[in-house]
Amino acid sequence: MTTVTPTAVIRGIGSCLPPQVLSNEDVKRRGVLDTTDEWIRTRTGIARRRAAEEHTSTGDLAVAAGRAAQESAHARADLLLLATTTPDRRCPATAPEVAYRLGLGAVPAFDLSAVCSGFVYAVTVATALVRTGVCTRPLVIGAETYSRIIDPLDRDTAVIFGDGAGAVLLEAGDRAEPGAIAAVDWGSDGSGSDLIAIAAGGSRRPDTSPRLCREDRYFRMSGRAVYGHAVRRMTDSSLAVLARAGWRPGTVGAFIGHQANKRILDSVADRVGIAPRFRHGNIRDVGNTAAASIPLALADTAARHRVQPGTRTLLTAFGGGLTWGSVALSWPAARPRSSEPEPRDARSTTHPTPEGKAPWNLSTTTS
Ligand code: UT7
Repeated sequence: MTTVTPTAVIRGIGSCLPPQVLSNEDVKRRGVLDTTDEWIRTRTGIARRRAAEEHTSTGDLAVAAGRAAQESAHARADLLLLATTTPDRRCPATAPEVAYRLGLGAVPAFDLSAVCSGFVYAVTVATALVRTGVCTRPLVIGAETYSRIIDPLDRDTAVIFGDGAGAVLLEAGDRAEPGAIAAVDWGSDGSGSDLIAIAAGGSRRPDTSPRLCREDRYFRMSGRAVYGHAVRRMTDSSLAVLARAGWRPGTVGAFIGHQANKRILDSVADRVGIAPRFRHGNIRDVGNTAAASIPLALADTAARHRVQPGTRTLLTAFGGGLTWGSVALSWPAARPRSSEPEPRDARSTTHPTPEGKAPWNLSTTTS
């Protein structure tokens, strides 16, 4: 008798975008930036992005996206992994509170920090946990509020980044099913750790006082240098994961790359050999949402019914660290859900019981 190794299968897809839309003109006005709508559109592919309101945190977006993914899957998670660079607080991790607010009980829950590669890293970890039987239904959320760490006066970053959250619910399943993870690839190169960074606020430089200069207090990115790394690393990682899956690039029917910059995505897809009609994403409307970018693009593409379930799909990401990663999977059959941000004081709507088993709540769907 042959035993088939199970893999992780995407059963549910959820997303949450804060309602406030910032156009390129809004960003230019806010920072009195020397830029134009035309420059931003042609050099990055971005026309607008979302910004969380003052009272909305990364956790609030994560709860909404996570709930939507569970509703999409009609299932409840037994582990929660939150990919983010903008946690609600420096301590503790945001994931346990998100799990609590979702009424998941005493499930393991932790944050994963790999900047813009965070979602792909988290899917890789979740897949390994499923394949080894550590959990059966991990909820992977990518959620960010970069509006809190971006310097509005810095045109290298202010024009690019936006807020949002996306999530997938995975479950142990068969490799032949739509949504099955076929192969993963990931890596890092810490020699480039200064290229994308917030200089102060960690143990090396704990000071976060307002006396700090903007350069040290805010997120900074050496755009040009990062551009080259991003193209090279995502191309190499994409080819590596396809080789691992045994798929020729010409057989890939859906490509979603980390939405850093449309030009970067096109360069990667050209080099890998993915035709333009197979490239999907919504960078024009949401900008670069770091760890949320791939699940948001996945949710948007699925909502538009652009890809047949079972289609060979390539996800690839690159981010600070430096980090990168790719996932080869078949396109999921899940119908995505979207949701409004959930304020923290709305947690009572999940009614966790003392045992932590919340009743299943399907009432917040807005898709
Ligand atoms: O998400 C994590 C990973 N992040 C990325 O992968 C992002 C990577 N980097 C980028 O997306 C791009 O490098 C940027 C969007 C940040 C910058 O675009 P670029 O095409 O690399 O511009 P550049 O820095 O090479 O500058 C080209 C020109 C320069 O003018 P001159 O010297 O040619 O006259 C810049 O001063 O564009 C100018 N410029 C701008 N002009 C208007 C640079 N930024 C801007 C701006 N608005 N925001």
